[in-house]
Amino acid sequence: MSATRILFSPQRSALTSLSRMLQGAAFRHARYFLLVDANTFTHCLPSLVSTVPPLQEAEFIELPVGEEAKSLSIAEQVWASLLDSGADADSVIVNLGGGCVCDLGGFVAAGYQRGIRYINVPTTLLAMVDAAVGGKTAVNLQGVKNQVGFFYPPVAVCIHPPFLDTLPHDEWLSGRFELLKCQLLGGDSFADLPWDTPLDDAAVRRLVGDAAHFKAAVCRSDPRDKGVRRILNFGHTFGHALESFMAQKGTPIPHGYAVAWGMWFELWLSVKRVGCDEVLLRRYGQLVQGLLSVPRLTLRDTESILGFMRHDKKNAEGTIRCVLLKEPGCPVIDIPLDEMEIRDALLKKLSV
Ligand SMILES: NC(=O)c1ccc[n+]([C@@H]2O[C@H](COP(=O)([O-])OP(=O)(O)OC[C@H]3O[C@@H](n4cnc5c(N)ncnc54)[C@H](O)[C@@H]3O)[C@@H](O)[C@H]2O)c1
Ligand SMILES: [Zn+2]
Repeated sequence: MSATRILFSPQRSALTSLSRMLQGAAFRHARYFLLVDANTFTHCLPSLVSTVPPLQEAEFIELPVGEEAKSLSIAEQVWASLLDSGADADSVIVNLGGGCVCDLGGFVAAGYQRGIRYINVPTTLLAMVDAAVGGKTAVNLQGVKNQVGFFYPPVAVCIHPPFLDTLPHDEWLSGRFELLKCQLLGGDSFADLPWDTPLDDAAVRRLVGDAAHFKAAVCRSDPRDKGVRRILNFGHTFGHALESFMAQKGTPIPHGYAVAWGMWFELWLSVKRVGCDEVLLRRYGQLVQGLLSVPRLTLRDTESILGFMRHDKKNAEGTIRCVLLKEPGCPVIDIPLDEMEIRDALLKKLSV
């Protein structure tokens, strides 16, 4: 798989770098198809096309907002539009949006004529630090998330933090926790702004490029998710289960919030199982409680969450597995958990 270029610079606009890239020989015959949703059409498209002249002739395809975009029927509609417009092997899809637009657009690019090039221009914090990078593309199937997809990397990811100006606060905070996950996993790679520094807007903007490079490097060394890339699941064994549980209860929480609590549970287990310092757990607990209100869980709730964990795609040989953290920068993958310690983590951790 060819490498993805990450276009990001603290000094220069990434859109200018994108413009320069598209004026190069590799794109001389390119025709562009720009995928947007209603929000990125309004908030992000004007500055993209005005700064990147090669995109002024692009055809727009508008997708539904959110998860609704990630379906086979939407993919089929986009393929049909590409066919009607005579898109060919030189055509390039440009995904302007959050993780949903990027996942669907990558999926469409992977399938059209057995694969055409695509570029991700992420517009949410979560997509900048996570979804747009790494080459996983997917649609949902019969309510199951990301069930059909390909490993198919974009030729470039263009990270332009000013797009975050219009992002709603809960979307911003949700992405903030995926960024925090990168900081905890990357350790010294983020030495300038350690994970426990309270981050203001400006600091987040400086960090997004580092986080994208960090994720890209992890994915390059394990493009098919067979080993080291699994570190990126830190916080997600508990996080996904909590996210599903809250949705089932009718009180859904953003993905990043669930990951924030997931990391807390998993840090509690890290202290017990791999010698993580209790001080780190305490400082993390303070930070997350300063930003979010704590979900209260009853004994019955913990059984439901455990039920979701038993069905996690990440399990192997019937055992629930998890990523734990010895210290920032030192994750350990594939730690098998027994159900008693999961119950303990869910119930006791919140009183640490
Ligand atoms: N492929 C991967 O490796 C990977 C990794 C993590 C998550 N994901 C996927 O990403 C998806 C979630 O991504 P997301 O959180 O970005 O959600 P999203 O794409 O639904 O965007 C969230 C909301 O923000 C709006 N929005 C986007 N940019 C905006 C802007 N600049 N200003 C105002 N509003 C804006 C969107 O229209 C939407 O309403 C999930 O489907 C998840 O499965 C994929
Ligand atoms: Zn996540």
